[in-house]
Amino acid sequence: MHIRNGTRNTIGILTSGGDAAGMNAVIAGACQEADRAGARAVGVHHGFAGLAQQRAAVVDTREAAVHESEPGTWLGTARWPALREPAGRDACLRALEALGLGALLVIGGEGSAEGARALAGAVPVAVVPATIDGDVTGTARTVGTDSAVAYACDVIDRLRVTGRSLPGRAFVVETLGAPTGHLADAVAAAARLQAALVPERPHDLDAVAGSLAELAQAGDAVVVVSEAAADAVTVARELARRSGLRVHPTILGHAQRAATPTAADRALGLAAGRAAVSALVRGDSTFTDLRPDGTAVPIPLVQAVRASAPPAPIPKEASRAARP
Ligand code: F6P
Repeated sequence: MHIRNGTRNTIGILTSGGDAAGMNAVIAGACQEADRAGARAVGVHHGFAGLAQQRAAVVDTREAAVHESEPGTWLGTARWPALREPAGRDACLRALEALGLGALLVIGGEGSAEGARALAGAVPVAVVPATIDGDVTGTARTVGTDSAVAYACDVIDRLRVTGRSLPGRAFVVETLGAPTGHLADAVAAAARLQAALVPERPHDLDAVAGSLAELAQAGDAVVVVSEAAADAVTVARELARRSGLRVHPTILGHAQRAATPTAADRALGLAAGRAAVSALVRGDSTFTDLRPDGTAVPIPLVQAVRASAPPAPIPKEASRAARP
């Protein structure tokens, strides 16, 4: 589609990387603010890959609102490493020009934020951090993490139900979240778990196994493991060998990404979308810092570059080598 009228009042919106619950709320908030400011929102389909192919259409704010409560991203997303190459970047720049987009809102995780920075010299670009992984530099929160944690808590609560009904068993729950263990840590905190196996800390399976027998009698023997540290099947087998219990693995997998958006993620997404578009209309390139109190504060994109890096995760390959 060809959308002419290349001013910053024509704002492209794209989602990039892994989908996360609440991305649709960001889109809805962005459209609402665009309407309020007299700007036009254009949905770019399937991330930067779709941008390079000029796949875009004007978004009706009412349609965006219909999708607001749904998980996933109705605009579609993609992983597109080509943006790191000059040819990929040039294709996106040509598309911005051809589509008449004078500003761009990028909704995604750490990799997407880096991609966005590559285009920020050409038009104002705003980044809203949205990923279930909860690991984006420079923001306390990310849209999607709360929903993914809530989904995991629901599964764990159900495992406890069967654990109490049929005592003497243990459960290992594997979360997404690679390359960091932030998501698994958040799940452990919310679900009151003693053990979270994450790549940022060494883990002692003998100690974990030793604590399981008593918990299993109470139907409360649940261990969470980040996919970045180990896999649930192997951990369950090792814990069973060490403890003599029956230990059942549950892999949350990509279902965790499609969790129903929580009220917190919806509110955060709406606030972030509005704040980011308001900055774009002013002509500012920003990164939206999502604060613990739920406010969305756009800060200059250049300032946000790796300002407060979290502890470096152990690379996936190295953490695999350390698996039991
Ligand atoms: O988007 C983040 C994430 O969901 C990670 O938690 C996970 O490791 C990864 O994406 C999976 O990516 P893909 O769906 O491309 O396999």
